[in-house]
Amino acid sequence: MSKAFDGKSVVVTGVASGLGRALAREFAAEGANVLGCDVNDPAGEETMAGIGAYIHTDVSKESEVEFLIDEAVRRFGRLDVLVNNAAIQVEQELAETSEEQLDRVLAVNLKGPFFGCKHAIRVMRPAGGGAIVNVASVVALAGDPMLAAYGAAKGGVLALTKSAAVKYGRDKIRCNAVCPGDIQTPLVEAYFAAAEDPVALRAQAEAEYPLGRIGQPREVARAVLFLASDDASFVTGEALVVDGGVLAEIY
Ligand SMILES: NC(=O)c1ccc[n+]([C@@H]2O[C@H](COP(=O)([O-])OP(=O)(O)OC[C@H]3O[C@@H](n4cnc5c(N)ncnc54)[C@H](O)[C@@H]3O)[C@@H](O)[C@H]2O)c1
Repeated sequence: MSKAFDGKSVVVTGVASGLGRALAREFAAEGANVLGCDVNDPAGEETMAGIGAYIHTDVSKESEVEFLIDEAVRRFGRLDVLVNNAAIQVEQELAETSEEQLDRVLAVNLKGPFFGCKHAIRVMRPAGGGAIVNVASVVALAGDPMLAAYGAAKGGVLALTKSAAVKYGRDKIRCNAVCPGDIQTPLVEAYFAAAEDPVALRAQAEAEYPLGRIGQPREVARAVLFLASDDASFVTGEALVVDGGVLAEIY
């Protein structure tokens, strides 16, 4: 039976952990040739063992992202899909955020996807098109008191997504975003662990979700695969919220 991404060339950033690992697995299971990257090489290589290829890439460095994209074309002949997933989280209120913290978050979480889009478009355009999915966050759409820099970067990712969609749609390049709520990954586990009472914070977070729980990485990955697939052939410039209903609730 044919699979949704049979023979497609897919690059996923941040595959060493959490959502990136789930994305690499789901794309590979759907038949894609997957090139994953991260800065955590042992864990990134572990993710990709037996399902695809891995190379070290710091997404905050344009030359490394350029190399990543060219490497996908060298290995697979073309690039069909890029998922800009890699990110870091700094928990800090706005008034206490240092210039260094802001620079680092913007470098990884905003410049990273920007470089990814730029170089993916460079190779997709002459090849006749492709799909880009940027991983944003519900924090791009609603405020979080302790994620000022992170939220600013994710809001930028949504603007980047729309700019790319409107400029390159006629080149048959679609660009969309997903906005996940809390997803059970090391990033969120670290957030809970830093609290005075991690168990209570987790229970409180889960209680806030209309579905009564936080999400699993695979549940976001499947939404990303939809946006990257031909099933979403008329969807571009969209920010798909995958949040268990948390943004839908007024109180
Ligand atoms: N977990 C959540 O609740 C949640 C919610 C909303 C959005 N997101 C977003 O989902 C994406 C994945 O997050 P996650 O929860 O899996 O986080 P995670 O921390 O588990 O994984 C992030 C991965 O990115 C890698 N990374 C960090 N800096 C990098 C760099 N400069 N270059 C390349 N790779 C780098 C890390 O090594 C790690 O493997 C991120 O964009 C995050 O902002 C997560």
